[in-house]
Amino acid sequence: MILVISSSLHPDSRSRILARACVDRLAEIGEPTELFDLAVTTLPPCDGASAYGDANVQDLSKRIQAADGILIASGVYNYDVNAAAKNAVELTGKAWTGKVVGLMLAAGGQGSYMSAMGLANSLMLDFRCVIVPRFIYATGESFEGQSLADESIQDRVNTLVEETVRMAKSLAT
Ligand SMILES: Cc1cc2nc3c(=O)[nH]c(=O)nc-3n(C[C@H](O)[C@H](O)[C@H](O)COP(=O)(O)O)c2cc1C
Repeated sequence: MILVISSSLHPDSRSRILARACVDRLAEIGEPTELFDLAVTTLPPCDGASAYGDANVQDLSKRIQAADGILIASGVYNYDVNAAAKNAVELTGKAWTGKVVGLMLAAGGQGSYMSAMGLANSLMLDFRCVIVPRFIYATGESFEGQSLADESIQDRVNTLVEETVRMAKSLAT
């Protein structure tokens, strides 16, 4: 199963459109998938203590553990993934160990394309995740309303999804 985590809390999020495009592509190629939307399932702020006992945190941890690969979609906030994405990783920590992880960002401008690197480094160094060397970075021009309207970004969605599945299967054997 490939778990897609949509991190944005914005009601009209663009990174959620990317996350849904990944879910659609996974369905098209017949891969089991689940979408976990942080705007729908609220997680408590990580306090390093009692928050780990929250039912939604435990549910997300189980889904991460069960996943063969995980795709994270986030908006760029202050040259980083949004706080909700980082909070989710803080809360679920060791569940990420050894997972194949792909990343995608929606951004306001072209200049913030390295913004996923802090998260990527943490996943690699803390939890020995394997980061898929494919990446989606999309700005406002790639969307029309609640739709993805950019063929080159759709191609990247397809490639990221297919490469994530391929790597997850290869590393599982
Ligand atoms: C608080 C805040 C900080 C932001 N910081 C950046 C930034 O550093 N670089 C950038 O390109 N866009 C930045 N943006 C624009 C967002 O990345 C853009 O609106 C994106 O669509 C957000 O993702 P979402 O629609 O999935 O929530 C920022 C937006 C907000 C609200």
